[in-house]
Amino acid sequence: MGVRIIGTGSYAPEKLLTNQDLERMVETSDEWIRTRTGIRERHIAEKDVAASDLALIAARRALDSAGVAPSDLSILSVASVTPDHPFPSTSCILQHKLGAPVTCACYDVQAACSGLLYSLDIAVSMLKTRKNARYALILGAEKLSSVVDWTDRGTCVLFGDAASALLLENDGTDSPDMLLSSILGADGSHSSKLCIPAGGSAAPASHETVDGRMHYIRMGGQEVFRLAVNAMTAASRRALQEAGLSVDDLRWIIPHQANKRIMDAVASRLGAKPEQVFVNVDRYGNTSSASIGICLDEIVRGGSVQKGDLLLLTAFGAGMTWGSVVIRW
Ligand code: ACO
Repeated sequence: MGVRIIGTGSYAPEKLLTNQDLERMVETSDEWIRTRTGIRERHIAEKDVAASDLALIAARRALDSAGVAPSDLSILSVASVTPDHPFPSTSCILQHKLGAPVTCACYDVQAACSGLLYSLDIAVSMLKTRKNARYALILGAEKLSSVVDWTDRGTCVLFGDAASALLLENDGTDSPDMLLSSILGADGSHSSKLCIPAGGSAAPASHETVDGRMHYIRMGGQEVFRLAVNAMTAASRRALQEAGLSVDDLRWIIPHQANKRIMDAVASRLGAKPEQVFVNVDRYGNTSSASIGICLDEIVRGGSVQKGDLLLLTAFGAGMTWGSVVIRW
């Protein structure tokens, strides 16, 4: 039974926050941000907009692109580190807003920036094992502006808000599978190096946690950088090996858009040509679980991928988690 991506969608709020805007908020410069990260601007959602609102627009765009109705969905998942609430899941809220049926399984995935790749692996498996499940819609949706400490120049320049959606179909025939290999991994021993310290059961919200700014992202940047490069490179090599491919076979490498220097380092270690690597971090910043889906959507809508093209998607995020996936378009 062949499972394929048949629709893509993405959405970023209209409002832009440029490096020049950030120069007026913290002690930083456009030059520092561009040379260290490759980011020029990021999109920021309005106060009353939640992750599910961003997801709703991306979801509709993906469904419309394939001419599939919300009522046809059997599986709906949202990957996010900025869910609408601790519970219920953002996917349940999205189900209601989208008008997906009550027969649709709804669940959230928490694998930070690797969330969409974890979701892809899970949804492909579910489509193959669940009777009569034809369509799965998987999303990454993030309102990172709600958890960024706007007084911390080490992190506030990095992140942006956006959502993306991939529509998968199991057409029930023996057409070949899109997913050629999927390598997922994690190392919880580094969990404190990128986290939001409070707001969960380990440190519930209190005056102290608020005063200590513990509800915002904390990150050891240099260590995360090093771990990201090593893990994405190793997982990508394994994914290519399992698929029986070399890097020269790839039309596109789509890395999680965290930082241009991380992407350059991974590409160079893999021996990839610069023109194989898709980059849009300059326009979005790091949108965590949304980033790879935005890239795919831009590639598809720009007509830059043909049937049969081979793509490597690779991500790294808090947890630490990572994933590398090879797909045949
Ligand atoms: N503007 C100006 N100066 C800054 C800024 C800023 N925005 N941020 C930090 N600095 C200063 C620091 O204070 C430090 O000053 P000092 O030498 O006087 O102490 C100096 O710049 C160097 O700081 P470093 O943290 O060593 O800078 P580095 O070169 O490592 O770049 C960065 C920092 C961009 C965060 C980098 O470490 C990085 O990209 N790490 C990866 C983090 C990441 O991408 N995380 C996203 C989540 S995980 C993921 O998605 C992969």
